[in-house]
Amino acid sequence: MAHSYVSHHHFLASLLLTLTTLSFVRTTYPQTNTEFIRSSCSVTTYPRLCFTSLSSHATFIQTSPKLMAHAALNVSLSSAKSTSAMMTRLSRSHGIKPLEASAVRDCVEELSNTVDELRSSVGEMDRLRGSNYEVYMSDIETWVSAALTDENTCTDGFEGSAMDGKVKVLVRERILAIARLTSNALALINHFASLHG
Ligand SMILES: *[C@@H]1O[C@H](CO)[C@@H](O)[C@H](O)[C@H]1NC(C)=O
Repeated sequence: MAHSYVSHHHFLASLLLTLTTLSFVRTTYPQTNTEFIRSSCSVTTYPRLCFTSLSSHATFIQTSPKLMAHAALNVSLSSAKSTSAMMTRLSRSHGIKPLEASAVRDCVEELSNTVDELRSSVGEMDRLRGSNYEVYMSDIETWVSAALTDENTCTDGFEGSAMDGKVKVLVRERILAIARLTSNALALINHFASLHG
């Protein structure tokens, strides 16, 4: 009887230990990473978008401001790439007015610059360590700002009432989404740079 009591007790204790360990692993660790993402996003202009676009990368970013900035650039780059592909299809679609098609083709051009600039920034982010830190960081800040300017140039092409319609609304929506992601990436890069300096 005493034996059975002891083993029963032992079983409960180890069950409790297992449950505690499990909940620690399952909840506490991801919460720390997730909380890091949430608090880092507070330096951006669009913190909610920042959080929703980066929280799925939480286990990869952990609590690194550098990985956070890098992941934000990645997200912005892949959004620019997919929008560029979508705009290319749009410019060739039936029923699009010649004036709209021309403005969309200009946008594809701007987006291709954006993609190049963001891709270069991502590349420099990989090399960002040690002695050339300042030079690389300044390149990255310049490129990401240029990407933001190119995105704005795209929407400028749709000014004027002749452009009013579905195409303009669609283009503005997609470009705004990239511009917000890019703006957030730039804020996170500047934040990371301020921690380093
Ligand atoms: C960024 O994207 C590259 C290429 O897809 C990938 O190798 C890298 O792990 C990503 N970095 C972050 C921080 O998400």
